[in-house]
Amino acid sequence: KKIVILISGRGSNMQAIVQAAQREQWAAEIAAVISNKPDAAGLQFAQSQGIPTVVVESKTFASRESFDLALQQEIDKIGADLVVLAGFMRILTPAFVQHYENRIINIHPSLLPSFVGLHTHQQALDAGVKLHGATVHFVTAELDHGPIIDQACIRVSNDDTADSLAQRLLEKEHIIYPRAVRLFVEDKLEVQGDRVLIHTDTS
Ligand code: GRF
Repeated sequence: KKIVILISGRGSNMQAIVQAAQREQWAAEIAAVISNKPDAAGLQFAQSQGIPTVVVESKTFASRESFDLALQQEIDKIGADLVVLAGFMRILTPAFVQHYENRIINIHPSLLPSFVGLHTHQQALDAGVKLHGATVHFVTAELDHGPIIDQACIRVSNDDTADSLAQRLLEKEHIIYPRAVRLFVEDKLEVQGDRVLIHTDTS
């Protein structure tokens, strides 16, 4: 299977996925890493691994539709079976999302359906929740919605800040995201309405 990973910045989740794929010898190829920002730090890591990189610079497009179309053309040229959003800071058009129905996944730094959008760690602090987390989900037209594949959580302590939560959560993201991508690659995910059934050997 061919995987294309979309990033906008640091790319630590992308890195975790690339490393897991290598280490665990997935029957999959990270066919390209695409960034909407030319200076995304993650591009360097991808290049260092010999992964082709593409920049489709969002700010040079007049509309969301025209950017998404250009992005779609790049992804389809590569022939991706799966599109992985990893810190890709763009809202995608319904047309784009529908084109990759059940083949596009995202990680969001909250326990969805709580705290959609930006500043999720601050949102969690403000709400006073004692458990915070991250969610891997299939992408649908509605922002930060879509069938949930996996979640991980951390406890919120008295002295936590948005930064400390983000930092602790990132370690969990680096575990659940590669695992979820691997389940997809191995055809173990079945979307049934709003739910994802996971078909592992033990269940
Ligand atoms: C992660 O916290 C992810 O959940 C969120 O943006 C951050 C991206 O980090 N969507 P990185 O670029 O993967 O290092």
